[in-house]
Amino acid sequence: YSKIATEGEMQAELTSPPMVPKPIGGRAATKLKVSMEIKEQEGTMADGVKYTYWTFGGSVPGSFIRTRVGDEVEFHLKNHPDNKLPHNIDLHAVTGPGGGATSSLVAPGHEKVFSFKVINPGLYVYHCATAPVGMHIANGMYGLILVEPEGGLPPVDKEYYIMQGDFYTQGEYGAKGLQSFDMNKAIKETPDYVVFNGKVGSLTNGNELTAKVGETVRLFVGNGGPNLVSSFHVIGEIFDNVHVEGGNLVNKNVQTTLIPAGGSSIVDFKVETAGNFIIVDHSIFRAFNKGALGILKVEGEENKKIYSGTIQEGIYLPEGGTIQKMPVSSTAKEVVPNRTLAEKIKTGKDIFGTTCFACHQSEGQGIPNAFPPLAKSDYLNTDSKRAIKTILNGLSGEITVNGKKFNNVMPSQNLSDDEIANVLTYIYSSWGNNKTEITPQMVKTLR
Ligand code: HEM
Repeated sequence: YSKIATEGEMQAELTSPPMVPKPIGGRAATKLKVSMEIKEQEGTMADGVKYTYWTFGGSVPGSFIRTRVGDEVEFHLKNHPDNKLPHNIDLHAVTGPGGGATSSLVAPGHEKVFSFKVINPGLYVYHCATAPVGMHIANGMYGLILVEPEGGLPPVDKEYYIMQGDFYTQGEYGAKGLQSFDMNKAIKETPDYVVFNGKVGSLTNGNELTAKVGETVRLFVGNGGPNLVSSFHVIGEIFDNVHVEGGNLVNKNVQTTLIPAGGSSIVDFKVETAGNFIIVDHSIFRAFNKGALGILKVEGEENKKIYSGTIQEGIYLPEGGTIQKMPVSSTAKEVVPNRTLAEKIKTGKDIFGTTCFACHQSEGQGIPNAFPPLAKSDYLNTDSKRAIKTILNGLSGEITVNGKKFNNVMPSQNLSDDEIANVLTYIYSSWGNNKTEITPQMVKTLR
């Protein structure tokens, strides 16, 4: 952190993983400015495998934020102008509705500022909470914010930042090329990748964490999920201290610590002897076949009093992807109740309020240059089949709505025939549109 222009406030130092900012628990509470920019960017998931990550600050997990109890945080959240989607941030360290999410919803090219006071010490997850929430988290939108207790945590020699996440790709583990997000796998909780710090190999192959014999090491470990709970373990080490679930309770002499999705743990231990210590999720197929494997490389003298077995190089190496064949689910027969027009409009309104409003806004007014209006939309009113297809398949490329050009991406929406019929019937019946009634049968024909 460093002093900036205004007296009495500080700019927070932010770091990308596996690094953490310097300890600050020793200083007095202050007004702390955090400036973070959301970037949607292509990155590498594994050798030859690309993925479009959505990031807080350009890394997965997002920038590490270090505060101390009593700090008043002024959070500046920017959404890069090249991004396609609106985003926000829910920080578990915030006491207040939505953890900041409602005040921080920000469209591409804009900035939102909101403030909160950190009153509970601990290690907290933050994440995007814009619909579809699971998709935003699955694409990498999570990170950690530490609230140090007064006086700070006990000093150690090395501190690192690790965060687990599960990823769902169209292709199976290792399938080459740019892989897109697979919503069906995400709903079924069958990830192709389970990784530390956003990719296979983030902590191996030259990216190992390092320490010297005799040093104490603290790991700030988070789990972004979106789905899986982590059984965090370092092979050949025993955690001396574990801040259970990132809180105040310290457990001693722990082999494996559970880290819930949306939760954390602070572990520390002294490294007594040299060698490679393998960091895993002990749900072990994830480590050897899906990527959740890192290395802490300890250099120095072997300590024969502690360990005198042979040290074999190459034990515990990643084994690559198991070929998963998930059964193709037969399209469940949809029960389409007989609803009155008023009932359809009412359910359609609920769907709009959870699924579409984040982009098209609550009164269908859209956002200039980013999301077209659905209110009095000529594009919508001239072609209802095209509207149905837009929701089924998504839409990209240049379109003109009410004389204004849009060139953006709408993801396909994972809704049933009945739901699409209802939401469109609601939209057509609202905001000056032409009152077309859409039936599930019309959607089914186009699916
Ligand atoms: C375009 C409906 C969800 C982003 C459209 C259009 C319709 C529509 C009818 C055609 C243009 C118009 O008539 O104004 C819906 C419905 C949704 C939904 C019913 C919910 C079920 C979303 C979401 C996003 C989004 C969640 C953002 C993540 C867009 C964009 C376009 C568009 C960017 C223009 C695409 C282009 O430039 O080619 N939407 N939408 N929509 N929608 Fe949605």
